[in-house]
Amino acid sequence: MSEILDALNWRYAVKKFNADKKVSKEDIETILSAVRLAPSSYGIQPLKILVVENPELRNELRSFAYDQSQISDASCLLVLCAYNEITESIIEGMIQFTAAANGQDISELSEFQKHLMTAILPMEKMEMKKWNDHQVYISLGHLLQTCAHLRIDSIPMEGFKSEEFDRILGLTEKNLHSVVLCPIGYRSEEDARQHSNKARRSLEDLVEFIS
Ligand SMILES: Cc1cc2nc3c(=O)[nH]c(=O)nc-3n(C[C@H](O)[C@H](O)[C@H](O)COP(=O)(O)O)c2cc1C
Repeated sequence: MSEILDALNWRYAVKKFNADKKVSKEDIETILSAVRLAPSSYGIQPLKILVVENPELRNELRSFAYDQSQISDASCLLVLCAYNEITESIIEGMIQFTAAANGQDISELSEFQKHLMTAILPMEKMEMKKWNDHQVYISLGHLLQTCAHLRIDSIPMEGFKSEEFDRILGLTEKNLHSVVLCPIGYRSEEDARQHSNKARRSLEDLVEFIS
C-alpha cells in the first residue's frame, strides 16, 4: 500500500490520549507550517490557529466540550478559528504580502484588489462567516493529514460550545470565532478504538466516473 494510504489508515479519531507524551516543538512547527500552506479562496486565509497548552485553561474549556477528555489530555489543543469579518484593511494586507512574495509592486495587483473589494466586502455577515468557516476546514484537512504522516495522533472535534470558547478565549474582540478543535498528541495504549477497522462507504458508492 502507498505511504499516504498507510498513514491515513493509521490515523483514527483518538478517544483517549497518553497525557504524559508530548509532541516536540519541531513537529508542532511542521504541522503549523503545513496548515499555513493550505489553499484558501483568493488566498485570503481568513483564519487563525490557537495552540492552547495551559492545563487550567484546557480544563475550563473541557467543561464546554461535553467533558471530552481529549481536550485536556492531548499534548496540546489546537483551536481553529475563522475571521468574523473580512475588512478592507485585511484585503490590503493580503495584497501586500502577495505582492512581496513575488517581488511585485502592489500597483500590479490593483485590478485583483478591486475585484476582491467588490466580491467580498458587500457579502452578508452570515454568508461571509460561512465562507470563512469553509476555509478553516481545508486547513483542518492539511492538519490531520500532516499529523498522520508524522504518526502524531489527532481528533477533529465539533462537539463543543463555540460561544463559550469564544468568550473564554476572548475571540470576538479579535474578529474571530472558534470553528473546530483538534487536540493532537499520542494515543493511549488503553484506547480500544485504535484496533477497530475503518468503516467507510465503498469506493464504488462514493465515486462516480463520468467519461
Ligand atoms: C468535523 C468533525 C467533527 C468531529 N467531532 C467529534 C467530536 O466532537 N467528538 C468525537 O469523539 N469525535 C468527533 N469526530 C470524529 C468522527 O466521529 C470520526 O472522524 C469518524 O467517526 C470516523 O472515524 P475515524 O476518524 O476514526 O476514521 C469529528 C470528526 C469530524 C471530521
